[in-house]
Amino acid sequence: MRITDTADRWWKNAVLYCLDIETYLDHNNDGVGDLAGLARRIDYLAELGVTCLWLMPFYPTPDRDDGYDITDFYGVDGRLGDHGRVVEVIRMAHDRGLRVIADLVINHTSDQHPWFKSARRSKNSPYRDYYVWRSDTPPDTSDEVVFPDKEDSIWAYDDRTGEYYLHHFYSHQPDLNWGNQVVREELLRVMDFWLQLGLDGFRVDAVPFVFEDVDTASKNPSVPADPHDLLKEFRGFLNRRRGDAILLGEVNVPHADQRRYFGGDAGDELTMMFDFITMQNTYLSLARQDARPLAKALQTRPAIHPTCQWATFLRNHDELTLDKLTDAQRQEVFDAFGPDPDVQIYDRGLTLRLPTMLGNDPRRLKMAYSLLFSLPGTPTIYYGEEIGLGEDTSQDGRMAVRVPMQWTDGKNGGFSDVAPGRLIQPTVEGPLDARHVNVADQRRDRDSLWHFMATLISRYRSCPELGWGEFEVIEQPLTNVLVHSCALPETAVYAIHNFAAEGCELELDLGRDFADTVLVDLFSDGRIPLDGRGHATLPLDAYDHRWLRLQRGEPLLP
Ligand code: NOJ
Repeated sequence: MRITDTADRWWKNAVLYCLDIETYLDHNNDGVGDLAGLARRIDYLAELGVTCLWLMPFYPTPDRDDGYDITDFYGVDGRLGDHGRVVEVIRMAHDRGLRVIADLVINHTSDQHPWFKSARRSKNSPYRDYYVWRSDTPPDTSDEVVFPDKEDSIWAYDDRTGEYYLHHFYSHQPDLNWGNQVVREELLRVMDFWLQLGLDGFRVDAVPFVFEDVDTASKNPSVPADPHDLLKEFRGFLNRRRGDAILLGEVNVPHADQRRYFGGDAGDELTMMFDFITMQNTYLSLARQDARPLAKALQTRPAIHPTCQWATFLRNHDELTLDKLTDAQRQEVFDAFGPDPDVQIYDRGLTLRLPTMLGNDPRRLKMAYSLLFSLPGTPTIYYGEEIGLGEDTSQDGRMAVRVPMQWTDGKNGGFSDVAPGRLIQPTVEGPLDARHVNVADQRRDRDSLWHFMATLISRYRSCPELGWGEFEVIEQPLTNVLVHSCALPETAVYAIHNFAAEGCELELDLGRDFADTVLVDLFSDGRIPLDGRGHATLPLDAYDHRWLRLQRGEPLLP
């Protein structure tokens, strides 16, 4: 790794921060967060230390899927601001060294999008082929729907033209026809537009579903021979326009299949992908207080091209999906972290944020975030995780976790000054309300989760080993402890995490190659000498976590 690589391939050890503008800060006091509010929090985000913002959809929308139902890919939702405000946010972020990416929803539009309105008016509409239609009665597809509480088929009948259109998500989100070259060109222009306004890339929504649409539409002669050609076309275009822009894909498929979405050996498709498999196994390990499921998930991650990267995370804005665990494993996580059926959703997930799941135990929360940041890859946090923001389970389904940010202990948690009844989303009530959990108090308290997260972020950023190094699980006898290392030729970070509620003693054996070397604790600055056999005994507290650097050459930090 050359020093120029770390600058150019910024995504290899970035810290991503996902936020929804409408629940972040309401500047004009109409009850809805806005871009002007976000602009006033750019310094906050820079201070926290994150390096890239991921803005959830801010485009015009009927808002039936929280903005993922878009009516104009080039527009800005008027409640949030306008293009001038978008540019202002991007410029302010860039001034502080932060990058900005935004959601690119390519699988579908809203049924209120002018393309679909025209397409359903007549079979001869020039936009008819922008979507996927069938005239025969579809088979039972109830097992393919994404939201089984609301849909029972991926096909919806359109009265006007007497045909069915495809929709993997809600029936008000018709799937675009990716077999149609014209659709692909439309979306390339959309990317081009936002890149010109300054975005640094895109979080690409629901990527595997796009591929399924290509299969479904395969009667169309313009279908590329291999749907992966689509991603290559996208990536090629993106990087011709902006060499350092990224595509971060939402691809919840088994590890073995993910490699292809990176473009295999060529690494010329998605730049980054969320690691859903590691995330789900992290919860299984936390639930069992046994590090082995996580260790196995990490060991079976496919090797990826060196310029690509995994995005690690514990929580996002959707249900905490556990769909890739077995039924019995999922039940173990439900039993441990969400036994109440009211917080379970779609038979696969939970509608809670991390603090509630972990009993708001600060030791366990800190251990979970230390673990997240120590995993090989680029960590992603969802707004509010830095303060232990809670949820509102009285809201419908996934909306439970999309609560207003809590800035102060004042009115509406400092999110907005309107009467509470006019807020876009009610604020959290109960033990995690704004009187107990807010940014202002935590910034003043050196022992707060906020300070812990800021320190973690700072350490992560000074550990290129984590984003760039070779990963290895270090064998040792304790099943409740994960010891892993990320190593570059001259330096390595050893991370130690105790998943158990009890303390223990770890016998760390790195072997004779490490005889008489010293491990430096990156949080306490303590030093742990290894003996002549490369061995040390480490007492660990309940939910303990350590990052230890072993350094042979020139020190990374003075
Ligand atoms: C995935 C997004 O994360 C989710 O919130 C949305 O509902 C679906 N894609 C459909 O766009």
